[in-house]
Amino acid sequence: MRYTALLLLLSAALAEESFITQFEYGKMLYENPRGIGCHHCHGPEGQGQEVARYQNKKGMQQIIQGGAIHSLSIEQFKHALEDSTRIMPRYYLTDTEIRAIHLYLQKMRDFR
Ligand code: HEC
Repeated sequence: MRYTALLLLLSAALAEESFITQFEYGKMLYENPRGIGCHHCHGPEGQGQEVARYQNKKGMQQIIQGGAIHSLSIEQFKHALEDSTRIMPRYYLTDTEIRAIHLYLQKMRDFR
């Protein structure tokens, strides 16, 4: 009897579109995609931030910046994530994952 109730509950939950919304899924991925979260370099809402400072051989200060990524088109966003010549880590995200992160960042930008 108890199992039947549990099964019913579970199937009702599964019949819903998903346990979490696209927005929540995007947030989760943004903060922990594959080990190192995007927010460490691009800021909590994709607004961009400084990643590191160092002095080059000529003694000039250099700054590595994780740019603002909340206003890029989905094409620009995808292209950046699939380009292996970049400084940032390569994540091998799926199309669905990239779209979820992109949507999350756009929503966060629009809420502000
Ligand atoms: C270790 C720091 C770091 C992490 C973590 C990181 N990035 Fe980046 N990202 C950078 C830097 C630095 C650049 C700019 C230089 C380059 O292109 O590599 C960049 C560039 C980008 C660009 C292109 C921006 C443009 O204007 O063309 C996008 C999009 C992007 N990152 C998305 C992400 C997403 C999404 C994640 C997480 C899945 C992520 N990044 C994780 C450092 C990081």
